[in-house]
Amino acid sequence: MKTETSAGAGAQVAARLAVYPGSFDPLTNGHVDIILRGLRIFDRIVVAVLTNPEKTPLFSVEERVAMAREVFRGQPRVEVDAFGGLLVEYARRKGACAIVRGLRAISDFEYEFQMALMNRRLSPEIETVFMMPAEAYTYISSRLIREVFAHGGPITGLVPDVVEKQLREKSARG
Ligand code: PNS
Repeated sequence: MKTETSAGAGAQVAARLAVYPGSFDPLTNGHVDIILRGLRIFDRIVVAVLTNPEKTPLFSVEERVAMAREVFRGQPRVEVDAFGGLLVEYARRKGACAIVRGLRAISDFEYEFQMALMNRRLSPEIETVFMMPAEAYTYISSRLIREVFAHGGPITGLVPDVVEKQLREKSARG
């Protein structure tokens, strides 16, 4: 049976853009998995790296943006950008209809629930969409990657190759 969208055949449908915000210090394969899943639902994803002057990150925002751009080079539907200030204001400026967040475990839920409801209060037209990563990535976090790497543990397969290379270069520089 032939089906048509409710907009009708030939109608222009606005591209659906989502913002995927985070610290990404560093980007992990769990983040990459969420972005790839997001591309199944949204036309474009903006990976928005938080410029956070309160924290002392391992990687500068420029380094984090550069690594994510390298990972998604050749994927025109993914944009990588840095942002500061309120997330919903940024999402609105980008024309996003949604904010994507990954949910790994129940422990993520409380913080994510609070943020989603605050963001909804601030900007009711932007939906928060939670996505679950592949089971293999449910225990990975940027914090654990930093910790394991700092103690010489193996992180191969948990982060993109470019991130692993940058971690090694950073630790070699001391
Ligand atoms: O990966 P993270 O560090 O958990 O991401 C947190 C992030 C960037 C999504 C959150 O800190 C954020 O949105 N910061 C921007 C400031 C803001 O809008 N705060 C209010 C959120 S309810």
